[in-house]
Amino acid sequence: MSVTKAVIPAAGLGTRFLPATKATPKEMLPVVDKPSIQYVVEEAVGAGLDDILVITGRSKRPLEDHFDRNVELEAALEAKGDHARLELVAASNDLASIHYVRQGNPLGLGHAVLTAEPHVGREPFAVLLGDDLIDPRDPVLARMIAVREQYGGSVLCLMEVPRDQISLYGCAAAQTTDHADVVLVTDLVEKPDSADAPSTLAVIGRYVLDPAVFGVLARTQPGRGGEIQLTDALRELARMPASEGGGVRGVLFTGRRYDTGDRLSYLKANILLALERDDLGPDLRAWLPTVLDPEGS
Ligand code: G1P
Repeated sequence: MSVTKAVIPAAGLGTRFLPATKATPKEMLPVVDKPSIQYVVEEAVGAGLDDILVITGRSKRPLEDHFDRNVELEAALEAKGDHARLELVAASNDLASIHYVRQGNPLGLGHAVLTAEPHVGREPFAVLLGDDLIDPRDPVLARMIAVREQYGGSVLCLMEVPRDQISLYGCAAAQTTDHADVVLVTDLVEKPDSADAPSTLAVIGRYVLDPAVFGVLARTQPGRGGEIQLTDALRELARMPASEGGGVRGVLFTGRRYDTGDRLSYLKANILLALERDDLGPDLRAWLPTVLDPEGS
């Protein structure tokens, strides 16, 4: 069965970005000039997934408005003949068939994914976390879907990180396979201390999951941070037989990825992506040295 649905958890409170996120969802914070969630939706659509379920919570209404038409704004731009901006505004209207469900209790990422069960049903599906922004030039989701189609089971996106950063991520122990970019995941641990980490392979926020994950999540006890962790459910799936939907593989990602989950890396992502833009890059590139080294310029 092929993968057609994507789930985007977006129920977090965004406390790391207060006060900006007091009344605005963190997923609406712009990266350059586009809300971060739009990059993620575009990535899913780019991989052929046009049925998207966003897991939201209270005060997330702006997300729904963003992916809906703004008739008044469109009419005003039309009247002015501003077709370039009209195109930008309309671009997010019909990207995909987008559905919303509220998580209710914020019990963790695993719990958020479990909320998707009635919508997803018994199909494999993708999960995309908004704090990880994958550069559109280095798409990985289509490869992950192909690996799922070849082997069944679930597929993670894994990236080598320095050992002192592994405690920020889920961490995978893995064995090589016949494909240089695919590993077989043998164990997983959520945010281990760097000294105890079984490897330096970090789980990046892209998953292709077998629907068997729902049954496992329903019995997964709170783990790290008192939350129901997706990583813990995947650890169990890695040990289950293929006949029960088990088996976890990882696609090794070596492309460009930006973390928009904390302020410093969010600022870096903005600068890196703006530097690539034709309309902003040249001026930004010329200006940066003048602030970094006013004497030298
Ligand atoms: C989540 C997952 C973690 C994963 C990370 C990727 O953690 O629990 O396993 O490595 O996303 O960004 P979070 O960063 O939401 O705490």
